[in-house]
Amino acid sequence: MSQTKSLKDLKRPDLFQQKGCIAEEWVDAASGKTFDVYDPATLDKLATIPEMGREDTDKAIRAAHDAFQSYKKTTARQRARWLRKWSDLCHEHIDDLALILCLENGKTLTEAKGEVIYSASFLEWFSGEAERIHGEVVPSSNLNQRILTFKQPLGVAACLAPWNFPIAMITRKVGAALAAGCTTVWKPAGETPLSALAQAVLAQEAGFPKGSINVITTLNTVAEVGQALCESKLVRKLSFTGSTRVGQILASQCSHSLKKLSLELGGNSPFIVFDDAKLETAIEAAIAGKFRNSGQTCVTANRIFVQEGIYDKFTEALSQKIKTLKVGKGTEEGVVIGPLTHERAVEKAMTHINDAKKHGGQVILGGSPYKGEHKGYFLEPTIISGMSKEAITTREETFAPVVALYKFKTEEEVIDLANDCDVGLGSFVITESMPRMWRVAEALEVGMVGINVGVLSAAESPFGGVKGSGYGREGGRQGIEEYLTVKSMLINVTN
Ligand code: SIN
Repeated sequence: MSQTKSLKDLKRPDLFQQKGCIAEEWVDAASGKTFDVYDPATLDKLATIPEMGREDTDKAIRAAHDAFQSYKKTTARQRARWLRKWSDLCHEHIDDLALILCLENGKTLTEAKGEVIYSASFLEWFSGEAERIHGEVVPSSNLNQRILTFKQPLGVAACLAPWNFPIAMITRKVGAALAAGCTTVWKPAGETPLSALAQAVLAQEAGFPKGSINVITTLNTVAEVGQALCESKLVRKLSFTGSTRVGQILASQCSHSLKKLSLELGGNSPFIVFDDAKLETAIEAAIAGKFRNSGQTCVTANRIFVQEGIYDKFTEALSQKIKTLKVGKGTEEGVVIGPLTHERAVEKAMTHINDAKKHGGQVILGGSPYKGEHKGYFLEPTIISGMSKEAITTREETFAPVVALYKFKTEEEVIDLANDCDVGLGSFVITESMPRMWRVAEALEVGMVGINVGVLSAAESPFGGVKGSGYGREGGRQGIEEYLTVKSMLINVTN
């Protein structure tokens, strides 16, 4: 068995926390219950974490609410400095953060380092945005009045992060919230709480005041914690990244308190390769768009539509490239595809593959669980093509390294196919034609379009979707607005 890095290699062992965090105290669950976190590559136990419930959540909300009373009065410059310092600390401790992330999520160390840099980029971005929160002077229709607006933080923000990008999705939400002047309660995913806990250590080190950062850990009591956050009148904002089904539950639970919501939910991204594409660009983008985080991104290229003139060449070149991608544990040298994070993920992917076969699909590569040196959740990188559009792969995210290929004839046809979908998050268009790029980008019912690229992520670019992919935007100029409310002031100027 190969020797690879483990938690013993952390240079800062205190970044490995096994407790929740309320008002700067590292705490156990009130119930004393715990759950275990496992390495999805080896199934070895990594940590034992508090299984928190409603009582702990209420305490965290109360701590954040108390802290808000003074935090909302801090200057934007001060908040910007704390964010910048936190970002610097992420860079300083990149090796440790990446190792923790790699072990609990399964992604490769190289990808994990990329995610740490991505995570820090949100802190840098929002440190700039903090000082650009502006109101406006509005021309009044009444000569005796002046009108102006200013923006204020909403209050306590609950930030619910997913397991696929546990370190970057925390800062995408929390960075915006803290920049706006909100205090926060974080709820990392039960599969991957360690990255968020490490980030909480660094955020505190950066100087954020007591109670502005609180972390609730939960796996089996997640519904109870979610409900407590949704129903609390003290929580004024909830941001969630995850499935459409859970997003719908949270939205309905938030309806009583009418809190502001951002929901970044499931996707089913079309990846469209036109005949006029450069083959090299198409392959590079498809590999990045499909195999990033072993296919577990909500903008993953889920349906790859290829025009008939380039279909055979594209399929051949893609399978040659995929054959070179090494599968294994993320800490091992040269590995490009790690395990899937979730214990049911391989089973789900196999259901999709078998269903595609029933609908006429042909497995061109892979198609089975990957049997290697480790006993974790591995799947062979797979290409399946030729299934009818009734196959599950057309309607649902597979969230695995499975390429589902579909052939199309015309631009109109592929736009209809791409839009025939209940969700609309990411999309990718590979073409050398500028007019086509505009036409297709405008016609797709999605929140984001990548042209000749396979990754849509940038702190400065708004991220979010339409239809069942939810609402609100994260990152970009828009990201901070989600945590602010506009107040207008009408002034009588007569004596
Ligand atoms: C996600 O999969 O939820 C986020 C991916 C990204 O930010 O690139």
